[in-house]
Amino acid sequence: MTRSTYKAVEVSAPGSLRVVERPISDPGPGQVRIRVEACGICHTDAATVTGTYPGLKLPRVPGHEVVGRIDALGSGVSRWKVGQRVGVGLIGGEDGVCEPCRRGDLVNCQNPVTLGVTVDGGYAEVMIAEARGIAAIPDELTPAEAAPLLCAGITTYNALRNAGLRGGDLVAVQGIGGLGHLGVQFARRMGFHTVAIGRGREKEKLAKDLGAHVYVDAAAGDAAAELQRMGGARAILATGTSGEAMGPLVAGLAARGKFMVVGVPQDQIQLSAFPLVFGGRSIYGSLTGTPIDGEDTLAFSVLENIRPMIETFPLEQAPDAYARMMQGKARFRMVLVTKN
Ligand SMILES: NC(=O)c1ccc[n+]([C@@H]2O[C@H](COP(=O)([O-])OP(=O)(O)OC[C@H]3O[C@@H](n4cnc5c(N)ncnc54)[C@H](OP(=O)(O)O)[C@@H]3O)[C@@H](O)[C@H]2O)c1
Ligand SMILES: [Zn+2]
Ligand SMILES: [Zn+2]
Repeated sequence: MTRSTYKAVEVSAPGSLRVVERPISDPGPGQVRIRVEACGICHTDAATVTGTYPGLKLPRVPGHEVVGRIDALGSGVSRWKVGQRVGVGLIGGEDGVCEPCRRGDLVNCQNPVTLGVTVDGGYAEVMIAEARGIAAIPDELTPAEAAPLLCAGITTYNALRNAGLRGGDLVAVQGIGGLGHLGVQFARRMGFHTVAIGRGREKEKLAKDLGAHVYVDAAAGDAAAELQRMGGARAILATGTSGEAMGPLVAGLAARGKFMVVGVPQDQIQLSAFPLVFGGRSIYGSLTGTPIDGEDTLAFSVLENIRPMIETFPLEQAPDAYARMMQGKARFRMVLVTKN
C-alpha cells in the first residue's frame, strides 16, 4: 500500500464513533506498525465509547482484539519480522518499574499501555504497538477467528486455568456472550463438568453446542440452588455485565469454591457473608493476561479446535456492529475486518 493515510474509527466525543482519515506515522523505538486485518468488539470498548474509562483522553480509537501483519519495525526491535502475523490485547505493554511489575506480575502493572485508552487501538487499518505487547498468531487461525481470543479468550482461559481446578470439577460460566461463549468451550475442553448460566431458553441450544453439559436458566428460577442440587460448583466464572445477577450466585459454590469475577458491571455486587464464611468460599477478580498468555490461549484453541462464534462487519460499519453488541444481539462476537 502506498497511501500516506489510513482509515480509523474514533471516539471523538462521548457516544460518537466516526470514520476518520489519519496520516500514517512510523513506529518509534521498541514499536511495530501493524496493518490491521481484524479487530473484535469487546464490551469493555463501551468504556471508551462512553468516555468513562479512567485516564481516557478523547479522541481515541477503540479496539483491543487486534490481529494483523507487521509492516514496519521501530529501532531496537529484534524479536519480530516485517510480514509476521501478530495480535494485541487490552494490555499492550507494562511499564516494568511499578511494584507489581518488579514482582513479575505484569498484567497488574499500575501504569500500563492500554489499547483504546492510553493509546489508539484496532478499529483502524493501521496501528502502532509496543513490541513487548504483541503475540504471535498461529497459521491455523484466520485473523477474524484469532481476534476475539486476544481478549474474550485470554480472559476466560486464564481465569479457568489459574483457579486450581481438577478434571471433572463442576464449573459454571455465567453470562453467555463474547466472553462466556468462549468460557464454556474452554471449561469443557479443560475437562470440567460444565454448566452454562444464561437468562431465558434462547441460548440453551447454542450453549450446549458450545460444550455445556448443563444449561441453567437464571430467569426461570434460583440458579444458585440449581448448582447446589448438582453438588455445588468448584468455581463460577462470572462474565455478565450485571452486578445484581452476580451476588446471589456465590451461594451456588461448593465449600472452598471460587467465584471469579471477569465481567465488569456498572452496578455494585451485593454479597452475603454467610456462604463466604460458612464453607470458606472466596470471590476475586481476574484481568485478561500477558502476551505470552495470549499465545497459550491461541495454542490451546488450535489444539482443542476451539473457535469463537463470530459475525464480521467491514471496519466502516463499526458503529452498527458496536450497537449490535451493546443490544446483546451479537452471536457471539462482532469482528471488524479491513481490506488490508
Ligand atoms: N476481566 C477482564 O479482563 C475483561 C476482559 C474483557 C471483558 N470484560 C468485561 O466482561 C463483561 C462481558 O464482556 P463481553 O464482551 O462478553 O460482553 P457481551 O458479549 O456484551 O456479553 C454480555 C453478557 O452479559 C450478560 N448480561 C447482560 N445483562 C445481564 C443481566 N441483567 N443479568 C445477567 N447477565 C447479563 C449477558 O448474558 P446472557 O447470556 O444472559 O444474555 C452476556 O453474556 C463486560 O463487563 C466487559 O467489560 C472483562
Ligand atoms: Zn476486552
Ligand atoms: Zn508496571
